[in-house]
Order: sequence, then C-alpha cells, then structure tokens
Amino acid sequence: MATWSAPGKVFLFGEHAVLYEKPGIALAIRPRVYVTVRKTSHPHHAKSPYIDQCFREFGVKGSVYINSQLPSSSGLGSSAAVTVATLAAINDEFDMGRSKEQIAELAWKIEKKVQKGRASATDTTVSTYGGMFLIKEGTRKRLAPQNYHLVIGNSQISHSTSRMVEKVAEMKSKHPAIINPVLDSIEAIVMDAMKHLDEPAYLGKLMDMNHCLLEMLGVGHPQLSRLVLAARSTGAFGAKITGAGGGGCMVALAPKNIRARIAGAIEVFDGRAIITCIDTEGLRKERDA
Ligand code: MEV
Repeated sequence: MATWSAPGKVFLFGEHAVLYEKPGIALAIRPRVYVTVRKTSHPHHAKSPYIDQCFREFGVKGSVYINSQLPSSSGLGSSAAVTVATLAAINDEFDMGRSKEQIAELAWKIEKKVQKGRASATDTTVSTYGGMFLIKEGTRKRLAPQNYHLVIGNSQISHSTSRMVEKVAEMKSKHPAIINPVLDSIEAIVMDAMKHLDEPAYLGKLMDMNHCLLEMLGVGHPQLSRLVLAARSTGAFGAKITGAGGGGCMVALAPKNIRARIAGAIEVFDGRAIITCIDTEGLRKERDA
C-alpha cells in the first residue's frame, strides 16, 4: 500500500490566457488530496477518467482510495492533484522508478487527454512541485514563495472547465479585434505583477483588473461577482475569479487580520469560504495507516 498527497492550486493571474501563449502565475494551496493505491487481485476505485488513465499509462491494475478536502470541479486543481498523487502512489506501490519530473509530464499528458487537448501545464506543475510558478506554454519558472493571506470563495455553482475553455475560444474567433487585446492586457498584468510580488496591496489592484478582463472573456457569473464584491467591500486588497470561471471559485488577497471577516462576508452571500495560504510542498509521501 502506498499513500501520496498533493496540493490544490489557485491562479493569481492569467487563467485562460495561458492557453494562448500568454504567461500566468499560480501557487499551490492547502487543502491537499490524499491518494492510497494498493496492489490487489480485485481492483476497485472511484469512477474517474483521470484515475483510469493513470493506470493505463503504467499498464498495471490496483485499488485506489481518495481522501480530499479540496472541492472538485471548482477551479482549485483537484483533478490535477488527484492525477499527480495517483501517479506517484502507483509509481511507489509498483516500483516503477519514475522521477517527479516524469510524473509531472505524465500528469499533464493525462490532463490534456481527458480534457480533449486544451489544458495548460499549470495545475499539474504546481501540484507536483508546490510553491509558486510563472507558467508560459511548456516552460515554468519557480518564484520565491510569498506569505499571501488568501480567502477562497466557492460559489458552489458547478462548471465545466472544457466548456469555459470552448467559450473563450468562441469569443476569440467571433471578436478577435476585441478579445486579442484583452489577452494582451492579461499578459501585461502578469508582467507587472512579476515586479511587485512582495506587495500584496499592489497585486490586489491587478487582481481586480484581471477579474474584469475575465468577465470580458465571458467566464463571469453573477454569483462569482457577488462574492468578489463582498470580499472587496470587506477590505480585501483585491479579488477575482480563479480557474475556469462560469461557477467554481473566486480568490481574495487579504490583510492577515481581516481574513475571517472576508470569509464571513463570503458565507453571508452563500459562498463556501476557505482561508488558506501557499503550500510550499508538492507531492509528498504519507505514512501508511
Ligand atoms: C483552469 O483552472 C484554468 C484554465 O486556464 C485552463 C488551464 O490552464 O488548463 C482555464
């Protein structure tokens, strides 16, 4: 039996734009996903195309048990966390000898396959290595971890990443003269953010701008807007959709002493709040129970 865990992620800047050769900044967050894999003659596991594909890639069969406090289909990278932790646990249980680098690559390949070709390496990179990254196409640059105080608001409205990705593609092909400059502006935000990573108040303003641009891409939702406004009016430095949008989660960057107040405001507006911070550890082997 082998148990591995991997963290979730938030995009601070650049979701969707990363699928159009633009950079994005994302960081690993708590909570984590825990996956146990066991060699057995009667394999069973939760119905998941990600898990099926993990076993297919390694050409083995086993049972899987998942323990996750990360809400699924909410933009917090739960499918990537399940994929990298499952690959690592299979690798360990069956002595396959793959490196972390190979697991990250394989996880990205699986994400692309399951999501029909349109997935950036962001979720799988951040979940494998932990910490904070600048991602651009196939490349990654590790950034110095920052002690950001984050409040996530889950709208509890289910969304489909692939549907949102398609929606942006449609917008782009229908209105290229409008949407291409929006993607350029998101890139400009990321480049500016890179110069101010240790200034949360400044980054908050950039997050507000990135949120408007995501709405222009067509991935907003009234409930996400309510949660974003609730966080801002309670004193967040800034707040935005995080992930694919259309539902799922928003994230606020906040002064430490008012995180709980922001979480309360999110809950008043029917969101599920998670107070969190960076997780500098990526994949981790857990002690077997
Ligand atoms: C989803 O969390 C973020 C997107 O940019 C897709 C991706 O990066 O794979 C919409």
